[in-house]
Amino acid sequence: IGDVIGLTPALGWNSWNAFGLSVNDEKVRIAAKTMIEKLSAHGWNFVNIDDGWEAEKRAASGEIVTNQKFPDMKATADFVHSLGLKVGIYSSPGPRTCGGYLGSWQHEEQDARTYGDWGIDYLKYDWCSYSEVTAQIPNLDDMKKPYQVMRAALDKIPRDIMFSFCQYGMGDVWKWGAEVGGNSWRSTGDITDTWKSMSDIGFNQTADGPYAQPGHFNDPDMLVVGKVGWGDNQHNTHLTPDEQYTHISLWSLLASPLLIGCDMGKMDRFTLGLLTNDEVLAIDQDALGKAASQAIKNDDYQVWIKDLENGSKAVGIFNTSDKYQTITLNRDENGLKGLNKIRDVWQQKYLITSGNTYTAKVAPHGVMLVKLSK
Ligand code: DGJ
Repeated sequence: IGDVIGLTPALGWNSWNAFGLSVNDEKVRIAAKTMIEKLSAHGWNFVNIDDGWEAEKRAASGEIVTNQKFPDMKATADFVHSLGLKVGIYSSPGPRTCGGYLGSWQHEEQDARTYGDWGIDYLKYDWCSYSEVTAQIPNLDDMKKPYQVMRAALDKIPRDIMFSFCQYGMGDVWKWGAEVGGNSWRSTGDITDTWKSMSDIGFNQTADGPYAQPGHFNDPDMLVVGKVGWGDNQHNTHLTPDEQYTHISLWSLLASPLLIGCDMGKMDRFTLGLLTNDEVLAIDQDALGKAASQAIKNDDYQVWIKDLENGSKAVGIFNTSDKYQTITLNRDENGLKGLNKIRDVWQQKYLITSGNTYTAKVAPHGVMLVKLSK
């Protein structure tokens, strides 16, 4: 086993849900400056450019080039680095990206070298038009192939680049993502800012959970908080405040990359509060790198438990119904025995309890996130 990077899930921002194909150099610089002003003290450090930066034709040398929205990608990357942050980019193993720009098909080594020269730290590699150049019904080998090719290309350059697979969970990617050298892999299709989308994705991360490990994480897609949507459609997320607590709590329990998907220049105090709670982020970033597993599921609520490195456990008590629920956790069950201290992680305070049960009144679609320790 070689050198593994990305031992804990990435913490950062991605341009797609906020700006789509109209991402540009200026928007990326604003995002980077905002990250420094408001978020980086809490560990946030990746500024990731998604689809939309690429030209439609390569240079005569075959090199990939930017379009007019990014006049000089090396300068953009230098700027992000000058703030002490890292920069991510996006490509597709097919001839075209989903947005119709250039992909890396048959130019993988050349592109990896270009990214290295620019100083790129993170590559999201999105299946898209690869369907056109592989078997109509790809088998497992066909699915792995483009990621193996780019992995090999990245291994040849003298730079560590986090490698993020994006193929929406095909072929149970979590079973082979680590072996093919992915630091993360999308486990689902695209998220949208609705309770249905977020909860369908989040509460179904059961089969992939056991595969999360340091350096290799499941990625249930971006955080739909704050101002999302493109152009005139920019709006505050349709998730209620309680649903947003659920979203961040669940993604942290799942040891997911946390990639903010909003216009960071427009974050309000509520959004900032969601993203800067160090005790919540510490659950996501725990060095053990395990994802929570679903311990209880019924029509009204679910309990997810994540093992932490120091023997403590993070427990999310989620009310999935649309009425208030009074939920009792039995501390003699689910491996919680002997963990007598209970800390409310969002409130950052210890809770006074007696006996072996803990009862919480949880808001509709809301969560009680606690840490249990000796
Ligand atoms: C599909 C991916 O799932 C999205 O996250 C985004 O990268 C778009 N493609 C870009 O075209």
